[in-house]
Amino acid sequence: MKLLEIKDLNVSYGKESFFGTRKSVIKAVEDVNLEMEEGETFSLVGESGCGKSTLGRAILKLLKSDSGSIFFKGNEILDLKEKEFLPLRKQIQIVFQDPYSSLNPRRNIKDILTEGLFIHENYTDEQAEKEAAEILEKVGLAPDILSRYPHEFSGGQRQRIAIARALILKPEFILFDEAVSALDVSNQAQVLLLLQKLKADFGLSYLFISHDLGIVKSISDKIAVMYLGKIVEIGTKTQIAEKPSHPYTKALFGAIFEVENRKVRKTPLQGEVPSILRKPNGCHFHTRCPIAKEICSEKTPEWKDLGEGHKSYCHFPDGK
Ligand SMILES: Nc1ncnc2c1ncn2[C@@H]1O[C@H](COP(=O)(O)OP(=O)(O)OP(=O)(O)O)[C@@H](O)[C@H]1O
Ligand code: SF4
Ligand SMILES: [Mg+2]
Repeated sequence: MKLLEIKDLNVSYGKESFFGTRKSVIKAVEDVNLEMEEGETFSLVGESGCGKSTLGRAILKLLKSDSGSIFFKGNEILDLKEKEFLPLRKQIQIVFQDPYSSLNPRRNIKDILTEGLFIHENYTDEQAEKEAAEILEKVGLAPDILSRYPHEFSGGQRQRIAIARALILKPEFILFDEAVSALDVSNQAQVLLLLQKLKADFGLSYLFISHDLGIVKSISDKIAVMYLGKIVEIGTKTQIAEKPSHPYTKALFGAIFEVENRKVRKTPLQGEVPSILRKPNGCHFHTRCPIAKEICSEKTPEWKDLGEGHKSYCHFPDGK
């Protein structure tokens, strides 16, 4: 069953000019379409500033979308008023990158974990504490830490607390925004193993935002690649990581590039990412694309169906 369906979504920020007179608009998410099935781990990848977090926050309604639709289990959530959204909000949780700033330093672990329970349900103190102790065990922490404070814990432990805080509401869907990026390699590996276990134990679905392609390759079922606010390619892990079609995905994943029948192995990406305020016309990638042709700077590519759910937004999806 479809868990999430996003249609033609646009999200922008207004940017004041230096003198505060003119407002320029940053189109951070542009015409995004994607579908996610229940039980999937779906990853969003792309260079810094391409709109991954903006898209994530729009799904959680932490940001207002300009246009488009977001269906969660068939319900169009953008139309819902805050009160109507609250029961669904419980089913959609988020874990952020920085375990140092995402936990309130003045609140003890019990208060951090149980706050959401009191917002969403009528819990007694005793029931909430019991739930908190149980959920700590699920994330590999001792239940006797409830009266302690975030500063007493390491980065890896804090991220487990943040995961417990999301999990205690029994969500169906968790969005991880660079959730393991701040951790060292061994903590990363442990937390990723924990996430796999929790997913199986609780029947969860994950949206995983990351720029670490190694991690994304290891944990994802499906991957969407973003560039300057748009999705450029979407497919299964194998389609994207091993048989990418879009020149940007090929560059990102370091695949062999064929230019005029010569095989070029090194990453062919040239130049800087253009400013999001001045996105190139047509295909936004044409200023860096090694196979760009005239049409690319004139016409925005529609998606091309490459079969079995694999889609590429390129005028030349077969690379020629
Ligand atoms: N609050 C804001 N106000 C104005 N512009 C913003 C705001 N937040 C993000 N942006 C801009 O929107 C664009 C997309 O940002 P976003 O944070 O979604 O990218 P990202 O892919 O998550 O990047 P990163 O990998 O660095 O986290 C960027 O150009 C960014 O500068
Ligand atoms: S549409 Fe053109 S510029 Fe864009 S990725 Fe495809 S070939 Fe390159
Ligand atoms: Mg981000």
